[in-house]
This record gives sequence, C-alpha cells and structure tokens, in this order.
Amino acid sequence: MLLTNKVAIITGAARGIGNATTLLFAKEGCQVAMIVRSLNDKVQLTLNQIEQAGGTAKAYICDASSYEQAHKTVEQVVNDFGCIDILVNNAGITQDKLLLRMTEDDWDKVIDVNLKSAFNFIHAVTPYMVRRRSGSIISMSSVVGMYGNAGQSNYAASKAGIIALTQSVAKELGSRNIRANAIAPGFIQTDMTAALNKEAQDQKLTRIPMKRIGTSEEVAQAALFLASDMSSYISGQVIPVTGAMA
Ligand code: NAI
Repeated sequence: MLLTNKVAIITGAARGIGNATTLLFAKEGCQVAMIVRSLNDKVQLTLNQIEQAGGTAKAYICDASSYEQAHKTVEQVVNDFGCIDILVNNAGITQDKLLLRMTEDDWDKVIDVNLKSAFNFIHAVTPYMVRRRSGSIISMSSVVGMYGNAGQSNYAASKAGIIALTQSVAKELGSRNIRANAIAPGFIQTDMTAALNKEAQDQKLTRIPMKRIGTSEEVAQAALFLASDMSSYISGQVIPVTGAMA
C-alpha cells in the first residue's frame, strides 16, 4: 500500500473526483478526513464502504470557502488523527456565463469556493506540516486554467490562480520538505459535467484526441501518485489528466 498510516484531508469528498480520491486513498491505507457540505447518503455510504474494508475515514461538515470554518475543521482533524500528511484541495463549482452577463456574485462565489478555499486549507494545514517537516499538497486546477475558455472566465481565473498558488507554495515551503502540485483534469464524467447540455458535451469530445471522457478514478490515480512517496522529488508542477485535450 502506498499511503499506509498517512492522514489526508480531502475537500469536496462527497462525490465525483473527491469521492473517488477518498476511496482510493483509503484503499491504500490512508486515514481520510472527508470535507463535505452535508452528511448525505453518498457520504454515509462511502464511510461504511471504507469501514467495511478495514479502513478509516471520518466526515467533517465545512464550507471550504470559509476561512474560519476551514481553520476550525483542520484543528478538529488534528485532534482526531494527530497530524496531517496530505491535503487535497478539490472542492469546486461552476457558474458559467459570458463575461458581459456575469454578475459580481457569479464571480465572487466561484473564486471563493475554487481558489480561496485552497488558500484557507493550505493556510490552516501548513503550520502542522512545517512542524513535522513533511507534507504533500495537491490542488485541483483544470485544463481551462491553463488555456482559458469562453463562458468560464470566473472558473478559468480561479483554476489559473490554483496553479500560481501551487507554484508559490512549492517555492515557499520546499525547504521544509512540503511539496505542492496541481492536477489539471480535462473533461471528466461527474455531476459537474453531467450538467452540461448534450451539444456542449459533444463539442468537448471533439477536442479530446483519446476520443473519450475521463473518469474520476483516473484523476484519483494522479492524486495518489502526488500524495505518495513515488513523487518525492516532484513539486511545483501541474499534471494534466486530459486524454491529450488542450
Ligand atoms: P462535483 O460537482 O461532482 O463535486 C464537487 C464537490 O465539491 C461536491 O461534493 C460539492 O459538494 C463540493 N463543494 C462545492 N462547494 C463546496 C464548499 N463550499 N465547501 C465544501 N465542498 C464544496 O465536481 P467534480 O467534477 O468532481 O470536480 C472536482 C474538482 O475537479 C473541482 O475543483 C473541479 O473544478 C475540478 N475539475 C473537474 C473537471 C471535470 O471535468 N469534472 C475538469 C477540471 C477540473
């Protein structure tokens, strides 16, 4: 197992990529703190599944975009598990609109949930990681954060921000043996992309050389690599998981 006795915090763990990452990390021996908006059936099912397989996971209700809630939650996780080895900043939303139709609220919400949440959790976990001189921080960016996308200026800006945040954290904390990397998924089958109409989905597929949508599990595998010692000298990088989409 690649993450035996490690402790990970994963935001947006209730479904999609965050949920697949939770299940994979737990399978690899990691104790997982699932950060969720509410304790719904899917969260309960995940906790039961992990417990039945002999793993450890606990859910924490927290709005990741709240600085105060993020800090309180990290404190609770440290009280429960003793330390934090891995942080996965995965919580994210879209509020797609052309720029001229975008409201201030559309902008603020997406930046707060996608980018500020990553700052909140990085800020809260790094004192614990620095003390132990060890840590791996993984944040979900997007292919859109690398190249931009019409109708997603708020989302693209938040995901580009994740890349710059990751590179800066890697530079600031590398000397303390804390690594920071980002993953840039392309078009992945989750509730987020299921919300797109058929035309938009077909149009995206034409841009993927591998000619298929990706799975949450395929993104989770990249997160596992970055969380584990297999990537012990990789920091400040962005790993696209896109089927060669650009
Ligand atoms: P999803 O919509 O299925 O899951 C997102 C999760 O984030 C949900 O569980 C939701 O409850 C949680 N969340 C939202 N706001 C939150 C908040 N304020 N506090 C705590 N949790 C919150 O989305 P999906 O597709 O699994 O995406 C996961 C990450 O990957 C996101 O950051 C997304 O932007 C990114 N991504 C997804 C792609 C895709 O094609 N699905 C492509 C590129 C990036």
